Amino acid sequence: MNIINAKQVTKTYTVDHREIRVLDSVSLSVSQSEFLVVQGSSGSGKTTLLSLLSGLDKPTSGRVFLKERDITDKSEDDLAQLRKDMIGFVFQSFHLIPSLTALENIMFPAELKRDPAAREKAIKLLQRMGLDKRSGNFPHQLSGGEMQRVAMARALINSPEIIFADEPTGNLDSANGRAILELLLENQKISRTTLVLVTHSNAIAKMADRMIVLQDGRITSEQ
Ligand SMILES: Nc1ncnc2c1ncn2[C@@H]1O[C@H](COP(=O)(O)OP(=O)(O)O)[C@@H](O)[C@H]1O
Ligand SMILES: [Mg+2]
Repeated sequence: MNIINAKQVTKTYTVDHREIRVLDSVSLSVSQSEFLVVQGSSGSGKTTLLSLLSGLDKPTSGRVFLKERDITDKSEDDLAQLRKDMIGFVFQSFHLIPSLTALENIMFPAELKRDPAAREKAIKLLQRMGLDKRSGNFPHQLSGGEMQRVAMARALINSPEIIFADEPTGNLDSANGRAILELLLENQKISRTTLVLVTHSNAIAKMADRMIVLQDGRITSEQ
């Protein structure tokens, strides 16, 4: 089954009365449990593509299906619900809530769903990410690598079917970057989650089931 289906998705922005075509009729299917790497130079449309596939943003034309459900015209509320139920995000800048501790940040999505096991699940994930000793730390008391591991644990707590990771190692040194990618890949192997990963690393791209390259808003290569 294709868990993600994008059909001729186009995204344009109008800046100073000029239309900029950021994605140009992109069609893409991702199957369940697939590990897809997205590459392309800065400005090629990678982040925009992820935003459209996850319903964070709407295409100018074209349609997006998640599990064969057309999400293109869904309301913001429906989309928020859908993301909460099936999607985990990991971003380049970690997007942690500064006033919450590491443990509380991880618990947050599970608490939104009123999951009674939120704390227990968060503690398990803290351990898996090697963060046991950082449980009570606030984001400003964590290193970049630790913040990204908290962000990953938070993305995983509701056992999402799809993880979108947008240059998750972009702000980390190479050792921390490798550790984050290893945790992501390990999770993908264990839980058979669908993983869509934007990364410049060719070594990681080689480990993916498939790689696409974006250039000026189009898929120019697929292997
Ligand atoms: N809200 C916006 N308004 C105008 N242009 C935008 C907006 N968001 C992104 N862009 C432009 O779209 C292009 C693709 O951006 P993006 O998807 O972030 O690329 P990438 O993630 O590959 O670096 C860039 O040229 C960027 O400037
Ligand atoms: Mg980007």
